[in-house]
Amino acid sequence: MRHFLTTEDWHQDELQHVLDRARALKAGASSSALSGKSVALVFFNPSLRTRSSFDIGIAQLGGHPVVLDARAGTWPMEMIEGTVMDGDAEEHVVEAARVLSRYVDMIAIRCFPKFEDWTAEREDPLITAFARHASVPVINMETIVHPCQELALMLALQERLGSVEQKTFLLTWVPHPRPLNTAVANSAVLIASKFGMNVRMLVPDEAYRLDERYMSAAEQECARHGTRFDVKTDIKAAYSGAHVVYAKSWGALPFYGQWENEAPYRAKGAGFMVDEAKLAMTDKAVVSHCLPMRRNVKIADAVVDSPAFLGIEEAENRLHVQKAMMEALSRDMDGCG
Ligand code: CP
Repeated sequence: MRHFLTTEDWHQDELQHVLDRARALKAGASSSALSGKSVALVFFNPSLRTRSSFDIGIAQLGGHPVVLDARAGTWPMEMIEGTVMDGDAEEHVVEAARVLSRYVDMIAIRCFPKFEDWTAEREDPLITAFARHASVPVINMETIVHPCQELALMLALQERLGSVEQKTFLLTWVPHPRPLNTAVANSAVLIASKFGMNVRMLVPDEAYRLDERYMSAAEQECARHGTRFDVKTDIKAAYSGAHVVYAKSWGALPFYGQWENEAPYRAKGAGFMVDEAKLAMTDKAVVSHCLPMRRNVKIADAVVDSPAFLGIEEAENRLHVQKAMMEALSRDMDGCG
């Protein structure tokens, strides 16, 4: 039985097959892959796109979505195994996964890190426990990576650029009032490198390097494709000749949970908002963001409202790629994969 926890577990050809199927679904192909089946959508964090696109996509495949708001509508959950549960948690993930598996045919989870201890949180403890104890496929709706967003982004890039191979993908850190999860940044370098792009990161300081697991994975994929992986702090060097500009803000991992000490490093990125002047240095780059996005903090209105902006197409593609992925997981469960 396969899960969709991270694109690292899936070969490029398998992901391309899902993207091709997503394109067909987007073009109007119908599917009853989830007919008579149910999917639990478990949210520990807020959502607009993920919640609505999964809910609608499951219904379009003939299935029944069961949306659980884990912050308000379910029991507080323990994720550490072997612990003495004398704190707030009433339910252990082991029972939650086993019981939901008796009701539904897939379980999708959104659980952001708590910004307490990156050493523990980088192991993605909740979703990996769900995957260990569930007897149905588990889908990642964003934890420390956001693989559904990766597929939606890659589909949008292929639709707009055709082949992405050897093109240059710039992941630029952008300002935000608060330190954010690194999930989408991790995912951006994973998917761009896996599909044969040159990957550049623009960061205010080396402190904003991502976890070594993702830096190494991206470096290895670039080596496999004969492309480049670079980290830059100079805006002009980063934007020069780029074909894609992907904007995201994240907190610097050396200051994880102690963000007051990050302030001087964050200040170095004060001029990093994506704007028309920076785009003029690129090779007519398209621009995207996973959304939600603070306008005129991360990306200027003139860019968001221009034809270069792909964020709405990327968001729409969440629906199509998730349907294609659920179809693939369902086929795998039914033994026809
Ligand atoms: N991009 C994304 O996952 O959006 P939501 O947080 O609204 O689900």
